Amino acid sequence: MSIPSGDSEALARVHSARRRTFAIISHPDAGKTTLTENILLAGGAIRLAGEVKARGETRRTTSDWMKIERERGISVTASVMTFEFEGNVFNLLDTPGHEDFSEDTYRTLTAADSAIMVLDAAKGIEPRTLKLFEVCRLRDIPIITFVNKMDREALDPLELIDEVQSKLQLDVAPLMWPASSGQSFRGCVDLRAQDFLVFRKPAHDDSTSIQETRVALDDAEFANLMSASERAEFEEGAGLARDGLPAFDLGSYREGHLTPMLFGSALRRYGVRELIRLIGEIAPPPRPQKAEAAGKPIVLSGAEKEVSGFVFKIQANMDPNHRDRIAFVRLASGRFARGMRLRTPTGRQINIHNPLMFMAQDREIAEEAYAGDVIGVPNYGVLRVGDSLSESGVIRFQGIPNFAPEILRRVRVRDPLKAKHLRRALEGLAEEGVTQLFKPALGADLIVGAVGPLQFEVMSDRMANEYNLEVLFEPAPFASARWLSGERADLEAFAEKNRSAMAGDVDDAPVFLAKNSWEISYTMEKNPKIRFSAVKERH
Ligand code: G4P
Repeated sequence: MSIPSGDSEALARVHSARRRTFAIISHPDAGKTTLTENILLAGGAIRLAGEVKARGETRRTTSDWMKIERERGISVTASVMTFEFEGNVFNLLDTPGHEDFSEDTYRTLTAADSAIMVLDAAKGIEPRTLKLFEVCRLRDIPIITFVNKMDREALDPLELIDEVQSKLQLDVAPLMWPASSGQSFRGCVDLRAQDFLVFRKPAHDDSTSIQETRVALDDAEFANLMSASERAEFEEGAGLARDGLPAFDLGSYREGHLTPMLFGSALRRYGVRELIRLIGEIAPPPRPQKAEAAGKPIVLSGAEKEVSGFVFKIQANMDPNHRDRIAFVRLASGRFARGMRLRTPTGRQINIHNPLMFMAQDREIAEEAYAGDVIGVPNYGVLRVGDSLSESGVIRFQGIPNFAPEILRRVRVRDPLKAKHLRRALEGLAEEGVTQLFKPALGADLIVGAVGPLQFEVMSDRMANEYNLEVLFEPAPFASARWLSGERADLEAFAEKNRSAMAGDVDDAPVFLAKNSWEISYTMEKNPKIRFSAVKERH
């Protein structure tokens, strides 16, 4: 991106105002991967020369983008993809689809200003949609709903809307209204422009064309699109949508009370460009971020001069030829320029000579970046998830949460001479956020925690490849963990009484390890002065 030089504060304001940093949330199989791919295509970020046959590798992947890469033969393995479209800069954040990586997803959402919720038109709200939605609500992230797979038999749109309203307590403002679905899907009326976006099933060998044909509602072509009975049904529905449902209201959407809804088909590239335009039009530019500067609460936005940001993800091994470790930094303020030195509140500093931006097939060195952008900072263990970075080093953002693990395992290394290495390796992975580490107060065991079993697989692979350690997982005598807080004297007394259940996490914060959820409730009841938390905000 070439940027004219000039007053850097004004530049920062103008540039950050056209950033749209968003993530896509959905239940597996609703079409997130397909939509991501076709957003990149419709946004001009990738030009596919046609599908590349899957390469036969069936191993589960940790990222949907890895799946795209594998299946399409294009390189999109990054946690963020940036593209420019019609004057805006879009930063699309990858949220891993596999359930085991939900913690990663939560962390990614802390870096997003808005989200797209993809629903399968035949299924509506599914369990994981609901879970992810709750995280968005916790963070006040506004949501656009994309009802996908309209080229297949779908639920009645009113039923879908009703489900969103009742299950998510969200008002729904449809901006398009579909004419039927499945075989008889004809397209959607654009309720604001009052014209009709025609759907045509693409030819078999066409995997790149974007559907953009619009016809006026009084056009003869529109009259020919459907039979009289189809048209009557469509007009009744569209009339209801227009008159009986809430009109779109920007304020309600941005506050998270209302979701605008589009209907489309990611696979057939129908409604995808409309979605990108809608994000450009209504999704919020970088949100002011709450932080503290030397203990005082502040709010940072794109208009602020000082460069600041926070690490929301660490990704290792992005390039198999280099043992690299990239910290993804979401910028919150200022105009970042290559070569800058940023500091953490704990006094660590890093000179950012080669900040990466991920544009379509390439990673590029970013000469500058603005609030809302995500830069990849290659580093070797200096930065960790949750770190705040700023020029002055005094800015501290609200933490990035850690969630109580759902599975705990005792971990051992096959070669006992390598026990010290094991500890260091586990600390490294915990700092990256791959798995959590708990060091019990008694004994020399090390316990690792994860949200799902796949995390252990990834961990054991990485221990073997990066640290040359063969690790064994054994059942742990604990099933869950809670972070403790309270008055120091109370905590000490509690720890004394419960020594065999006490541990420290990677930051040495006190943790209570419990055998089951009953034990947690019981211990909580008996110790009202101690706070037991299933979420830890990391700073
Ligand atoms: P996910 O990332 O949310 O898990 O979903 P993904 O995009 O992988 O899509 C899941 C399945 O749904 C895929 O089919 C995909 O082709 C299909 N799909 C996605 N969007 C649409 C759509 O708009 N219309 C139709 N008809 N299908 C759609 P699959 O058979 O499981 O995989 P594949 O062999 O096609 O890759």
